[in-house]
Amino acid sequence: MSRAPQIPAGELARRRQRLMRAAGGDALIVIPGAVETTRNRDVEYPFRQNSDFLYLTDFEEPDAIAVLAPGREAGEYILFCRDRDPKMETWTGRRAGPEGAMERFGADCAFPVDDIDEILPGLLENRRELCAPFGRDEGFDRRLFGWLQQVRRRAARSGVRVPHEFAALEHHLHEQRLFKKAPELKMMRHAAAISTGAHRRAMQACRPGMTEYQVAAEITHEFHRHGTEAAYPSIVGGGENGCILHYIENRDVLRDGDLLLIDAGCEHRGYASDITRTFPVGGRFGGRQREVYEIVLDAQRAAIDAVRPGHHWNDPHDVAVRELTRGLRDLGVLEGELDALIEDEAYRPFFMHRTGHWLGLDVHDVGDYRVGGVWRQLEPGMVMTVEPGLYFGPYCETPEDLRGIGVRIEDDVAVTRDGHEVLTEACPKTVEAIEACMADGAAGRR
Ligand code: GLY
Ligand code: MN
Ligand code: MN
Repeated sequence: MSRAPQIPAGELARRRQRLMRAAGGDALIVIPGAVETTRNRDVEYPFRQNSDFLYLTDFEEPDAIAVLAPGREAGEYILFCRDRDPKMETWTGRRAGPEGAMERFGADCAFPVDDIDEILPGLLENRRELCAPFGRDEGFDRRLFGWLQQVRRRAARSGVRVPHEFAALEHHLHEQRLFKKAPELKMMRHAAAISTGAHRRAMQACRPGMTEYQVAAEITHEFHRHGTEAAYPSIVGGGENGCILHYIENRDVLRDGDLLLIDAGCEHRGYASDITRTFPVGGRFGGRQREVYEIVLDAQRAAIDAVRPGHHWNDPHDVAVRELTRGLRDLGVLEGELDALIEDEAYRPFFMHRTGHWLGLDVHDVGDYRVGGVWRQLEPGMVMTVEPGLYFGPYCETPEDLRGIGVRIEDDVAVTRDGHEVLTEACPKTVEAIEACMADGAAGRR
């Protein structure tokens, strides 16, 4: 495993500059970080920083608010954060404090977040635009409007200008986040490598009689061993559970003869990976399982081939739909002319989701899929998943010998200048590679 990469400070500064340029020199940009959420009494949910905030600051403490004030002489990047507090730090951990925010996180100025109500209205004065994530959090919207009210009151007495244009932070920022620069691709390759190791570990550990949560524990072990967290709850579904798209109960016993579908990925400093592999609990694909698997694999490969600059967002999906529909006909599940079956969406009971999504700091990452009403073109730096599947669950009419088979294969794919890079290429995917990986695991147990 390569050393864990980080986003260099210069890149963070360039992100803030790009955002300020997009919002304009007369804007004040306010970016709230995530706050801690109580689970019960004095226990909190694990803290995860807000992705927009993390992207611009790399600051992982709760309760912080970043402000960008283009052209401000005393400094454009202002970070409000928790103040140092020996008593609280004894109980809940270290804090950078305003000094640390300046020394270690590149803030031009920093203040205790408890002082923000006194300071923020002054920063808003004489700005034309307020740019913030309006409508994301009701409590924060109220605070924004409270600060605006204070400026309005001062304006009545002193003639300062009150911001009168309001822009969604997402509008200016998410297009930037969609295009991954080289340091981000390094982060994503790192996350992909760890997740690949986790899937291998699961394949090698799996055997009939284990529970889904025991296999999930192998995945979690590998994530944590490398200092990462799950980017989303792991889906570990044996047999028919593999046909439940977001199955996260992970409670059942794995049976010989069933397939196991695992959709799991870690995040490294927020950067997500998202891999699905499907493999036989007992180590060998049975006849019909193998047929279904090969159809999904062919569809996935064809869809990945369609990931290249100039193609449209929808092309990999259309390719996958064609291949899966052809496969459903070959399996005897559908009958009729291929184009008509696609037109009628006859595949929908067996393939009911889309073929992918943007991937980045959020597992379902930000960025528009359509521009001007049409599917956008793929461009270098975009990263997406390619994840076709076929599911023969209890709610669809299906031949008996296919029932309970659920297969999804998911890789993370970056658009490059002349095609694509599969970040998760090393994760076993062919029938032969999976069976060999599982056989290695079984040999190690003997
Ligand atoms: N892991 C969630 C998804 O594949 O979209
Ligand atoms: Mn996905
Ligand atoms: Mn997934």
